Amino acid sequence: MEKKITVPEIRQSKNKRKLTMLTAYDYPTALSVDRCGIDMILVGDSLAMVVLGHEDTLSVTMEEMLHHTRAVTRAAKRALVIGDMPFMSYQVSAEQAVRNAGRFLKEAGAKAVKLEGGTSVLPQIKAIVNAGIPVQGHLGLTPQSIAQLGGFKVQAKTAKTAQKLIEDAKALEDAGCFSLVLEAIPAEIARLITENVTIPTIGIGAGPYCDGQVLVFHDLVGLFDRFTPKFVKQYVNLNAEIEKALKHFKQEVEQSIFPGKEHSFTINEQELEIVKKQSSST
Ligand code: KIV
Repeated sequence: MEKKITVPEIRQSKNKRKLTMLTAYDYPTALSVDRCGIDMILVGDSLAMVVLGHEDTLSVTMEEMLHHTRAVTRAAKRALVIGDMPFMSYQVSAEQAVRNAGRFLKEAGAKAVKLEGGTSVLPQIKAIVNAGIPVQGHLGLTPQSIAQLGGFKVQAKTAKTAQKLIEDAKALEDAGCFSLVLEAIPAEIARLITENVTIPTIGIGAGPYCDGQVLVFHDLVGLFDRFTPKFVKQYVNLNAEIEKALKHFKQEVEQSIFPGKEHSFTINEQELEIVKKQSSST
């Protein structure tokens, strides 16, 4: 049995080795991610966009997140599974946050939760941590605040906003977060944060100096083509491969090539003769 990665191991990896995290939302994908030795699987609320086809992440519900988290935890033998708290599952109050964070562990088998925001959500983070649930923070571009941010834009580009981000990062560390996602911020600001906190930073569009990197699975394998942010590296174009295979199937069916003998079942000749006689006499 594979040894599971734990929250303390993630914390202690700082300055020792680079961490990897990928999103997954279903059993087969999580199996692949886990088998490849990725440290953390985030069941991200990006589910809303890359799997459920919504415009942004705001509409995904707790029930949908739990449903997909269950599929992922069934597959993950080694990776630490983190459930992403959806919009309005923690913003209302610390009590609401603890209840919903608890559901990820109790009902879906996740080992930690992630939530977006800085000092405005400190009471929620402290309450969840006090309940014994590990929390991963998320700063910079926080897609649940897209209405306030005015779109998917790079953050912390002025001295004032960068300073605020650094303060937020320290506050999240003090509140007990075990790691911190930094999204779409200048590489040098991510470096300053990484050097100024003792918890690992996991970057997405935050340059090379973070303690680890995360990508959305569908971006990495070319399964989401509505838009591709500058920070995404597409390692394979699965959409193109899948479409090639599907067109091939259609062509082979239309030309009576598929199914061939090797895909068909047989019946013994004598039995067949009996069936033929019976069917012609009825
Ligand atoms: O939901 C998500 O996929 C995320 C990652 C971009 C970190 O929050």
